[in-house]
Amino acid sequence: MIRRVWEPELGSDLDRQLRSLLQRCFAGYPDRAYFKLPPHFRYVATVAGVVVAQMGVELRVIRVSDELVRAFGVVDLCVDESERSRGLATRLLRELTKIASAGAIDFVVLFADDDRLYVQNGWAHVANRCSWVKIDDHRTLGLATLGSHADSMMVKATGTRVWPGGDVDLLGHVF
Ligand SMILES: CC(C)(COP(=O)(O)OP(=O)(O)OC[C@H]1O[C@@H](n2cnc3c(N)ncnc32)[C@H](O)[C@@H]1OP(=O)(O)O)[C@@H](O)C(=O)NCCC(=O)NCCS
Repeated sequence: MIRRVWEPELGSDLDRQLRSLLQRCFAGYPDRAYFKLPPHFRYVATVAGVVVAQMGVELRVIRVSDELVRAFGVVDLCVDESERSRGLATRLLRELTKIASAGAIDFVVLFADDDRLYVQNGWAHVANRCSWVKIDDHRTLGLATLGSHADSMMVKATGTRVWPGGDVDLLGHVF
């Protein structure tokens, strides 16, 4: 079963299960259900009440050159090892692009070290330079200015707009 959960409504059992899943899927993940800041909502997949996959989503406005774009940012997409290669991550991404298209969201943006899943699902690399707020373990460390995320930043259009050229101001942390 796949459901969308607003972050304030996680509850303690779901929070515990998400922490456990995130720590199983990402080496060195902190003992909480988010890496830097909580997402705005998530998709959670369960099998017989057990959480087997999750995808955090941030609603962000970011500036590209002089243009503002409304974006969903995908964070910490993961599927338990036993459930992989069955299309579950693909289903979660599809659920999100569906509501993005219906909700005046221009792009779904993500940062990925391995692009395979995302290329297969219609994401494309972009090479804009980015500025963002550096946050580590609940501390603001400063600004990263015009760094490159060309190897990891990917976008998928969910409206009619074309991804603009120019420098990106993420107006917050990297998601
Ligand atoms: C990436 C991940 C979410 C894919 O979940 P999934 O349900 O198996 O995905 P799907 O079945 O929809 O698609 C599988 C395809 O994704 C691609 N893929 C596999 N591992 C991947 C990875 N770490 N990152 C990106 N793509 C990956 C492969 O092309 C795979 O095809 P294959 O099964 O024929 O090898 C899952 O492997 C996972 O949780 N990995 C650990 C956490 C992680 O790296 N998350 C990505 C953060 S950007």
